[in-house]
Amino acid sequence: MTRRPLYIANWKMHKTGTEAVAYVTEMAGLMSESLVGEIILSPPTIALAAVGEALKMTVLLNRVGLAGQNVHPEPKGPYTGEVSVPMLAEHGCRNVIVGHSERRTHFGENDQFIARKVQAVLEGGLSPILCIGERLEEKEREETKAIVLNQLEAALREIPRVDGLIVAYEPVWAIGTGKNAEPADAAAVHHDIRGWISRQYGEEVASMLRILYGGSVIPENILGFMKEEDIDGALVGGASLVPSQFVQIVRNGSGTS
Ligand code: PGA
Repeated sequence: MTRRPLYIANWKMHKTGTEAVAYVTEMAGLMSESLVGEIILSPPTIALAAVGEALKMTVLLNRVGLAGQNVHPEPKGPYTGEVSVPMLAEHGCRNVIVGHSERRTHFGENDQFIARKVQAVLEGGLSPILCIGERLEEKEREETKAIVLNQLEAALREIPRVDGLIVAYEPVWAIGTGKNAEPADAAAVHHDIRGWISRQYGEEVASMLRILYGGSVIPENILGFMKEEDIDGALVGGASLVPSQFVQIVRNGSGTS
């Protein structure tokens, strides 16, 4: 089974609408037909419309998708400051990041809330990018596999079908620290994730599931990850903020540069 490589730019709380449009314009000038893989930009919610419009004005329209960084499980209601699946869908998002460790840590999101989000996103016809990963102390206690599979189990407990799901393995200690996981270590975790999905949903679903690595991915280390059979792409934070770096990650990922 060949899985199409996927590169997602998670801008986090960076870039105004104006800066986002400038990014898209610059990125369009850097893209070439030879780039292999699927690309998704995940700007701040308030810049989604501007990025969507900017994509339409460039060659990127059919090459680059849009993802929300966050979503509320309810389709509407009294949840000040939140956005829903239908709102993201109307802005052209086909994906939503769910369960990012920054949401878990800074905004107190627990497994139960994340599970409701996954369900809402799938039911709304979008595809969740479910982030899971262990903290440094958990890694040091050699609990990585148990932690990651527990998070997966908790998020998917009530989910009968996972078509469209994307999983991102992001060791918390590797996010924004410049300390990436060793590709072989990450690949072993990806293998465990795929094995779990296979046991729950069958081998075919597991063989199609894209599992991304995230945590200090840069142009210099992406190929090491992409050479691993079970690593299907990357969720990129810091290095996605500069168009030339992000495009270089996509280019280097296929080993064709
Ligand atoms: P980083 O962030 O690439 O800056 O480590 C990754 C992420 O949080 O998705």
